[in-house]
Amino acid sequence: MSRHFLGISTTPTEDLTSIYRLAMKNYDGTELAQRGVSLIFEKPSLRTKASSLCAIEQLGGRVAVFTQAEIGLDVRESAEDVARTLAATSSIIAARVFDHSKFERMISATGDRVSYVNLLSDYSHPAQAIADVLALAEHFTKGKVKDLKGLTLAYVGDATNVTRSLASALTRLGAHVRVGAPNEYQLSSYDVTLINTLAEHGGTLSLFSTAEKAVEGADAIYTDSWISMGFEAEAEVRRSHLAAFQVNRQLLDLAKPGVAILHCLPAHRGEEISDEVLDNENSLIWSQVHHRTTAMRGILRWIVGKK
Ligand code: CP
Ligand code: NVA
Repeated sequence: MSRHFLGISTTPTEDLTSIYRLAMKNYDGTELAQRGVSLIFEKPSLRTKASSLCAIEQLGGRVAVFTQAEIGLDVRESAEDVARTLAATSSIIAARVFDHSKFERMISATGDRVSYVNLLSDYSHPAQAIADVLALAEHFTKGKVKDLKGLTLAYVGDATNVTRSLASALTRLGAHVRVGAPNEYQLSSYDVTLINTLAEHGGTLSLFSTAEKAVEGADAIYTDSWISMGFEAEAEVRRSHLAAFQVNRQLLDLAKPGVAILHCLPAHRGEEISDEVLDNENSLIWSQVHHRTTAMRGILRWIVGKK
């Protein structure tokens, strides 16, 4: 059976543990020898593309990148035919897609010949969550992921694909995740039930309707863009609905002293986060960026590892 990394909630805990361990373990550059990896980007990317290319090169793999403008997934030809074509040259297809269900369609088309990695979909961003956990562990627990148990992270703003993966990863480790968002931008009841069902080691998820309540007692505050890719037509209305959820100096003052600041980037300075907070000395954002490559090595090594 091919391994796929499509989401945090669909990856068993022991496999997530392996991914964290493999991410931090020394590599010798032969882990992906003789393997082709195809990267598909249906949406723009900077960090995900850069970190994926770097990780594949470090592990000795061969890579090809395809943008939507080039291949026209479900426009020029079906996602299934794109997958069947790339299966001729690749053993791993890593894709950034709008509609998460494209993964199921591509997997059905290629059967057991190819492994898939989710590089962000409308539903989740699990590779980002692995990097976020590694950055939090580096900052709070000397790199020991399992010691993140008991940490409190407040997510503020639009509850996005990033929020879903982050909350799922952290509650699996026994951390407490508090999401502050207006009702129409909150996690769904389906998300909450799924995340709570999978939580381990006393991890909890709590929802709040104000940013101020959400950050009470927080060790870390995380935010993401108010206008995720695909929501550009709603930009003005989103800016007005989410205005009270900006992560700024006044909000930090309500959290624990020295609260860590995280953002998956790209950031819209002056919208979801103020300049001074993004650049503050407790900001982990460049550590998160650094760990995107670390995380991708862990994911790829787990994919090609022994079952
Ligand atoms: N955080 C992240 O996934 O960034 P990109 O969209 O630039 O890849
Ligand atoms: N929620 C954002 C994340 C970007 C990395 C988006 O989907 O655009």
